[in-house]
Amino acid sequence: MSLRVGVLGCADIALRRIGPALAALPETTVAAVAGRSPGRAAEFARAFDCAATDYSGLLARDDVDAVYLPLPPGLHFTWTRAALLAGKHVLVEKPLTPTSAEARELADLALARGLVLRENFMFLHHRQHHVVRQAVRDGVLGAVRSLSAEFSIPPRPDGDIRYDPALAGGALVDLGGYPIRLAQYLLGDGLTVLGAELTTDPDRGVDLRGVVTLAGDGVTADLRFHLGGAYTNEYTVAGDRRSVHVARAFTPPADFEPELRLSDGERLVAPAQDQVLAAVAAFASACAAPNARRERGRLARSVRTTELLDAVRGAGLTPAPR
Ligand SMILES: NC(=O)c1ccc[n+]([C@@H]2O[C@H](COP(=O)([O-])OP(=O)(O)OC[C@H]3O[C@@H](n4cnc5c(N)ncnc54)[C@H](OP(=O)(O)O)[C@@H]3O)[C@@H](O)[C@H]2O)c1
Repeated sequence: MSLRVGVLGCADIALRRIGPALAALPETTVAAVAGRSPGRAAEFARAFDCAATDYSGLLARDDVDAVYLPLPPGLHFTWTRAALLAGKHVLVEKPLTPTSAEARELADLALARGLVLRENFMFLHHRQHHVVRQAVRDGVLGAVRSLSAEFSIPPRPDGDIRYDPALAGGALVDLGGYPIRLAQYLLGDGLTVLGAELTTDPDRGVDLRGVVTLAGDGVTADLRFHLGGAYTNEYTVAGDRRSVHVARAFTPPADFEPELRLSDGERLVAPAQDQVLAAVAAFASACAAPNARRERGRLARSVRTTELLDAVRGAGLTPAPR
């Protein structure tokens, strides 16, 4: 049977990306949508031919098996917890929560109830990174020494959730989690924060850019993110024999042919892939046959990301020059 998903919040990402994927896949259907404004929820519901309700109403519905939660990060904890307590599987937008204490509580709750709780880092489902990780493991680069990664995006409109400290806005939570999670994926979960600097906007009260160095086992990861910079979305893994550069690392379009360029002019080969469909399909498959061991491992990695976010915050804040 198809997984009946309720969308909690009429977010841009839900309308443009995840809603269409849920509607397109045979293993999922959009059962209902919830919004704070009945008018906006009704509009969204018309687009997906589903019921419209409010947040609590969505969680009370018997025809909703799972919830997709695209709320601002500062609301992830409250509503993910409520959804789990209502007995729903949850696909929550990244990061799971802004801090590790909240993430641990949600992970424990999901595991105790036998429910699937996944965060929507879609890039992890793209095979281009699987190919790079396999090359790292096979010694194609020699002994790996460093990772350099950046995710930066142009400024968002005034009033965007990313500029609101009350909603856990800021570049670290919105963008920084990507290169951090990539470093975990390629280099393992044993990395710790060697140093970090977040540049804050004193008027808005959120950080707009950051640099982070992670280290462990003789490997370093230099990570950058900027909310309000030139669009940059790439990484390089360097070994003692050669390096590989990955363009369009975090948000490749579905028809993008991966460019995995080795420093000696050769290329690694990976197919184009729709990572949105892949992420949603993986969630549906996990809900169809929940596996406690697999979910425990995945949640541990999500919690580790939030621990690293905490450590970056602890390492240093610098006001932006006026
Ligand atoms: N995985 C990805 O590739 C990706 C890409 C972009 C964004 N995201 C994540 O998706 C989430 C939403 O991002 P977005 O760009 O789609 O944002 P958005 O369009 O502003 O959507 C956020 C939604 O949250 C709801 N909301 C509840 N309380 C709110 C409040 N106090 N202020 C503002 N909105 C509130 C609103 O829905 P109602 O008014 O209907 O209740 C709103 O539509 C964030 O967690 C973001 O990090 C993920």
